[in-house]
Amino acid sequence: MTFKEKYGKTALVAGASEGMGAAWANTLAGRGFDLVLIARRKEPLEATARQITGQYGVKVLPVTCDLADADATQQIINAIGDMPVDFLVYNAALSYIGPYLATGLQTHTDIAKVNMLTPMAMLHYFGGKMAERGKGGVVLMASIAGFQGSGYLSTYAATKAFNRVLAEGLWYEWRPKGVDVIACCAGATATPNYINTNPGKASSLEPKPQLPEQVVEECLQRIGTTPSFISGTGNKLVTFLMQHIFSRKKAVEMMGDSMVKMYGVKG
Ligand SMILES: NC(=O)c1ccc[n+]([C@@H]2O[C@H](COP(=O)([O-])OP(=O)(O)OC[C@H]3O[C@@H](n4cnc5c(N)ncnc54)[C@H](OP(=O)(O)O)[C@@H]3O)[C@@H](O)[C@H]2O)c1
Repeated sequence: MTFKEKYGKTALVAGASEGMGAAWANTLAGRGFDLVLIARRKEPLEATARQITGQYGVKVLPVTCDLADADATQQIINAIGDMPVDFLVYNAALSYIGPYLATGLQTHTDIAKVNMLTPMAMLHYFGGKMAERGKGGVVLMASIAGFQGSGYLSTYAATKAFNRVLAEGLWYEWRPKGVDVIACCAGATATPNYINTNPGKASSLEPKPQLPEQVVEECLQRIGTTPSFISGTGNKLVTFLMQHIFSRKKAVEMMGDSMVKMYGVKG
């Protein structure tokens, strides 16, 4: 059975115009899926949609929507009508690097909305429909930053722990209903968002950033086989050390120290 036969006809990628999201959209189009692509900025989103239609000949519906909006899921449902979504990738994330208290509560609240509340709502609606049909696939993008407290990235890292744990629970609940759920725990990946943070090097052991396409391919190899996975050999090794060799206290200190070295943050 091909990937498309297993999961269906249409994939929705939330956060799809560039970087990892565009890699998801291109890879799924390469496997024959029609697409619904979501992002805030109309121009880059429509450019990605045109590139994909031209290259793969699949149907692409771009939908501009801010996933921080309380009614984001309803906006998407209004835009797509009763078109079934067979494969859902929740890729978008908001992050803030810096001292927790140096930005207003609104920033932390927006991070919680984009990274936790909207994926929860989208899974409830689209995942619910998949469960009714007895078929579907869901990817929640998580991060190895979410395996322990990460100073100066505290709220983002906490939301990435939420993504992983939510996906793992739903993997168990929905497996008997024919719906595969997976958390893709990526490490540093060379997306415009990551590159724009202009990170310095934390240590000589730090894994080289992966390419977005590598992360996506690894995830597609693993979906259906496991509730969550860590992409990249270097990231697997670092996470193993942080989880099983160092104490929790040491792991949290190492993460915080890395953030200080990479971004020169203090306070
Ligand atoms: N890059 C890394 O190093 C890395 C490492 C670990 C995990 N991850 C995870 O991988 C995923 C993708 O990472 P990335 O941050 O590098 O992003 P990306 O895939 O390069 O781009 C973000 C995409 O999401 C859209 N987007 C962002 N905020 C949005 C919002 N509020 N509403 C609608 N669309 C939105 C952006 O378009 P607009 O700006 O036009 O909205 C863009 O298309 C995230 O879940 C992240 O946590 C990334």
